[in-house]
Amino acid sequence: MTEREHHEYDVIIIGAGGAGMRAAVEAKQRGLKVALITKSLLGKAHTVMAEGGAAAAMGNVYKEDNWKVHFRDTMRGGKMLNNWRMAQLHAQESPDRIYELEEWGALFDRTKDGKIQQRDFGGHLYARLAHVGDRTGLELIRTMQQRIVSLDVDVYMECKVIRLLTNDDGSVAGAVAYWRPTGEFVTFSAKAVVLATGGVGKSWKFTSNSWESTGDGHAMALWAGAELQEMECIQFHPTGMVWPLSVRGILVTEGVRGDGGVLRNSEGKRFMFDYVADMFRAETAESEDEADRWYDDHSAGRRPPELLPRDEVARSINSEVKAGRGSPHGGVYLDIASRRSAEFIRRRLPSMYHQFMELAGVDITREPMEIGPTCHYIMGGVRVDAETAASCVPGLYAAGEASAGMHGSNRLGGNSLSDLLVFGRRAGMAASDYAESKASVSINEAQVSDYIAEALAPLERENGENPYAIQHDLQELMQANVGIIRKEDELVEALEHLEVLKERVKNVSATGGVSYNPGWNLATDLPSMITVSICAAQGALNRRESRGGQTREDFPKADPELGKINFVQRQTQGAGYLNPISVSPEPLAEMPDELKVLFEEAK
Ligand code: FUM
Repeated sequence: MTEREHHEYDVIIIGAGGAGMRAAVEAKQRGLKVALITKSLLGKAHTVMAEGGAAAAMGNVYKEDNWKVHFRDTMRGGKMLNNWRMAQLHAQESPDRIYELEEWGALFDRTKDGKIQQRDFGGHLYARLAHVGDRTGLELIRTMQQRIVSLDVDVYMECKVIRLLTNDDGSVAGAVAYWRPTGEFVTFSAKAVVLATGGVGKSWKFTSNSWESTGDGHAMALWAGAELQEMECIQFHPTGMVWPLSVRGILVTEGVRGDGGVLRNSEGKRFMFDYVADMFRAETAESEDEADRWYDDHSAGRRPPELLPRDEVARSINSEVKAGRGSPHGGVYLDIASRRSAEFIRRRLPSMYHQFMELAGVDITREPMEIGPTCHYIMGGVRVDAETAASCVPGLYAAGEASAGMHGSNRLGGNSLSDLLVFGRRAGMAASDYAESKASVSINEAQVSDYIAEALAPLERENGENPYAIQHDLQELMQANVGIIRKEDELVEALEHLEVLKERVKNVSATGGVSYNPGWNLATDLPSMITVSICAAQGALNRRESRGGQTREDFPKADPELGKINFVQRQTQGAGYLNPISVSPEPLAEMPDELKVLFEEAK
């Protein structure tokens, strides 16, 4: 038997999107021994799907903007379920994180007087998104990647972490992983671990997420004793491609609407005027003329209804389609062609232009796009401390989409890029502090053997179930029963089916060997995918109200009492994939009066 590869680090970071890279930079700059581990390739992360920009109240376009307005917009967008302190830190620190990125080489678009240009996005009162055309996430990743390479951080690519390792006292001790190219196992001992593993979208059928988003960090944290919250709050981005079917779900940036694009139904009507919730009525335009004036000067009109928060827009599109006013392939139309010049569209939205031209044969400078909601982001994740990103497991931290609290029940577009910079940095700092306080750490070989055996079981099992069949059934189930609109009987049915899927995973088998075996790789993803799906369905069943990314047909209104509660999930009968998950309501921290007053002032 060959000896297993093993490495010792102060801090390991699992996931190399924006949050992971930002955490790694912080820990490495402190002089610690740091590893950045990704099951994908460095530079390839869902971060690139935040195309339209990073929200930060820099006031470059509207000098009236400041952190207080950004904070208020974020809280209202999240329907007040946010951890107020996270939202405050985010609003206060985002501008510095953007300037820092610029210093590190990010090439943002510019205003006429040379400042970083900022564009409009849904739910943001002012044009606030620093951007690079419609490739902002890519620029962030490119810049951070250069930083990682120049700091000489150890990067483990195509290395999939399957489990976290813990000490007898419950603190984190490291992780066990395998190399995707060879199937060889590798262990990491670490004084601190940062989870920056991104989202869970691959459990849904139509998603903007790529193969990596299987909820690994969410699930591994839960199995290691951490708590999850808001797992019911899933963001369906209003504009994904709907046709051709092979590309259904691919993101169409909100930047199209930010730059003047409007939504129309099959009758050509700008239907969003019919769907303005009371909460946003005072600040939303009542006519097309008024909305159009606003694009040129925010004091000359009110915001167009197409720029309401994402949850509102996605539900409205869903209603139009249900009412029979959809496009031929089950979406609605997003039209920028009739509103902006071809030169403007190609300059501001180059990726969208090429995406539609190449994938759908549609010239968006001449024709409207057919779009519909796509599963994009989970607001729920590891319950963390606002200042440090620490979970309740000593030594375990989470940042970016793997964590919860910052966005409440609905995230505003553009807030994810700034979130992952602000809290990636904070997680890196706190993990470093913790690591510096620990003498050494060793891993438990019995745990390692169990986890390796569990991962190899599908290869040793003969005539079991095909992992792709289970994935297919899971995605169909989550799309149908835990989609944009939910109701009691369908959620109950989803949970029953998820138990069946869990049993089926026990019998999954993969043919072939360990090296570059996508069937086996998927078999090792299924426990995470099913765990996060159970959490989402369970949370959705318990939250008997509609709020942000949780819409209940049978409870169509927000319940003020539930607006004071997080649904927190844990494994109380021992951690592990097969053990039950409990859910309990926990009160939200009270916002201090000096912040409450911001909401009064806005009335
Ligand atoms: O529409 C977009 O460009 C996505 C941005 C985001 O999710 O923040």
